[in-house]
Amino acid sequence: MKQTPINFEIVSNKISESGINSVGKASIREIKKLVDDIENATGDKYIRMEMGVPGLPPLEVGVQGQIDALKKGVASIYPDISGIKPLKTEISRFVKMFMDIDVEEEGCIPTVGSMQGGFAAFLILSRIHKNRDTTLFIDPGFPVHKMQHRLLGLKYDSFDVYNYRGEALRDKLESYLKTGKIHSIIYSNPNNPSWICFKDAELKIIGELATKYDVVVMEDLAYFGMDFRKNYSIPGVPPYQPSVANYTDNYILFISSSKKFSYAGERIGMMVLSDGLYLSKYENLLEHYPSEVFGYAMVFGTMYPLSSGTSHSAQYGLLAMLKAANDGELDFIEKVKDYGRKAELMKNIFIKNGFEIVYHTDIDEPIAHGFYFTFSYPGMSGEVLLDELIYYGISAISLLTTGSEREEGIRACTSLIKYEQMTDLESRLSAFKQNHPIS
Ligand SMILES: Cc1ncc(COP(=O)(O)O)c(C=O)c1O
Repeated sequence: MKQTPINFEIVSNKISESGINSVGKASIREIKKLVDDIENATGDKYIRMEMGVPGLPPLEVGVQGQIDALKKGVASIYPDISGIKPLKTEISRFVKMFMDIDVEEEGCIPTVGSMQGGFAAFLILSRIHKNRDTTLFIDPGFPVHKMQHRLLGLKYDSFDVYNYRGEALRDKLESYLKTGKIHSIIYSNPNNPSWICFKDAELKIIGELATKYDVVVMEDLAYFGMDFRKNYSIPGVPPYQPSVANYTDNYILFISSSKKFSYAGERIGMMVLSDGLYLSKYENLLEHYPSEVFGYAMVFGTMYPLSSGTSHSAQYGLLAMLKAANDGELDFIEKVKDYGRKAELMKNIFIKNGFEIVYHTDIDEPIAHGFYFTFSYPGMSGEVLLDELIYYGISAISLLTTGSEREEGIRACTSLIKYEQMTDLESRLSAFKQNHPIS
């Protein structure tokens, strides 16, 4: 029997009881359940890096805003489908203050998490052109977006951007757009899972090509402002959160409040439609919607039948947080910087023990320290590495589920790790290195 930091026999038994063939291929939720079971059986605590959940308390100003609204009785009243007026005002102000982007309030729509914004957008974008049926993912990406495509029976294509950073992105992207099949493009920035952050030059390429080929860009800003190398925290003062919105008028922004405001539980996010897209007319929409106008079809033909809008009280919670941020009374970025501090410490421990960071640069500079990072171990595939690490009290997910072509890669999420666990991480990785000498 092997000597590993977590009892080898118990771990092996729990894996076979779970029915999981390969830990390295299991989904996030399967790994979560397995690790819960092993923790219960052994009493050992894992370094849990599998789930991308906030590790911080919700912003108090939001909670208070929501409680006040509930006490006033909003729970019994249907909210406006496109969002309550004061919230729409603050969303529009937020993108002006923190992105320097001008958008009419009309296009600022609260959604049931950013997840619903994606769902609604995929649905409608697949119907704007008769002859175009494919979404293009600039990967790696958030696996649930692909799950939504499969659920809706929609086509997608994708490529891993690892080898196409900078100017190389232009030809690669254009090779897909030239097919005439693509109606929209999606990526997240900062990127889940790799934490690469596109440079302005790359966003410009995406924006220019979107305009040239009349393709809509969905920019997923779930980790808004969290490239901690820059200070995006002062409203109305540069630098601003970089965005494709500076380079095309054909865009939808998804701005989640789950991570940046630690508000995942209330399922409220924002979808921002550019003024141009809101008013765009697509004749093909008339087959499914009451109007050919994109914004109208989005609100009255998509958000309405999906959920009739978003939780009334959560809208007030979000309103309170946005207002405080816009007025300069809440530095929401400072509150989440801890993720970056932990990432730096954790990455150093991994590197010291022979591991490598997979997505390690943004063209000419080291990648930022943030919510996620990616790692590998020389000579091992990601699947084998995850299978092994589970015996060392470390859990994470394979990059393969994210559209990454780096089959050696693992995604680590920093959010749930406590500072006092760093010594465990160090000793476990050191034991791993000893048992797996690098040739
Ligand atoms: C890239 C990305 N997009 C969207 C989401 C979903 O956000 P929400 O919780 O607002 O639905 C997440 C959550 O992990 C994410 O990482």
